[in-house]
Amino acid sequence: MIIHNRIQELKKQLNIAKSNGKTIGFVPTMGALHAGHIELVKRSKLENDITVCSIFVNPTQFNDLSDLEKYPRTLEKDSQLLEAVNCDFVFAPEVTEMYTEQELELKRQHIEDKSWTNGLTVDFGILDKVMEGAHRPGHFNGVAQVVSKLFRIVEPDKAYFGQKDFQQLAIIRSMTAQLKIPIEIIGCPIVRETDGLAMSSRNVRLTEKERAVAPLIYKTLSAVKENADTLPVSALKSMAMEMIAQEPLMQLEYFEISDAATLAPIDSLTQSKSAVACIALKLGAVRLIDNVLLK
Ligand code: PAF
Repeated sequence: MIIHNRIQELKKQLNIAKSNGKTIGFVPTMGALHAGHIELVKRSKLENDITVCSIFVNPTQFNDLSDLEKYPRTLEKDSQLLEAVNCDFVFAPEVTEMYTEQELELKRQHIEDKSWTNGLTVDFGILDKVMEGAHRPGHFNGVAQVVSKLFRIVEPDKAYFGQKDFQQLAIIRSMTAQLKIPIEIIGCPIVRETDGLAMSSRNVRLTEKERAVAPLIYKTLSAVKENADTLPVSALKSMAMEMIAQEPLMQLEYFEISDAATLAPIDSLTQSKSAVACIALKLGAVRLIDNVLLK
């Protein structure tokens, strides 16, 4: 496994592989890797000749500077995990390798501001207005900005993303389609701990007490799914809100039931071919998200 910090060095190696007819699979991450990320790498290894994993904590997708500072950075451990599954290349650039000072300054000036633009001519419609988009202004602009840069650098055949970030996956599919980027986007199932908690790089920041109550998130989503055939959407929502309200360490940000394709909120499951229940909450100081497909 080779670790590259510079764009040109990585590109040189990948161009050699491509000119030898090798296919490239790409797993973009912000590091602090867990079993969910490793599943993405394993899937890429199965479906491509060469796998590249990027590790880059992207400053432009954070609208909370303390969240950016606290984001775990564990490059050495991450590299060991990737080596163990025979990842071929790691791309771990510095911020200055990915962004010009003007781009960073523009983001700094508009840190809490929805009007910040990332220079892409992409219209996400409601995809970036609801749920995470409404609670984290500018977040998806930052995700689209960095993923489009990473796609231009790696130019993979396929790119792999976890379905835990359901809305992010929809945003990336939309961006790829609008910009006509010839990369197949592959969504992979959520990987959970044995008690149901969705794996996330943020889980390591939970205290023992918080970690002990965290399975309530999946328990709530599972209860909603179990009752989805019999209860109306309004009752499913009330049930979820009541379950989370029972736990004083949790502060619900939103619970939404949406069309799985458009992410528009729905009043009845009969309205959509496929529906998803999405949740975001604060557990102590840690913000967690999860989701489950209802149909
Ligand atoms: O899901 C993540 O880890 C990040 O949002 C991504 C896609 C790597 C972009 O920074």
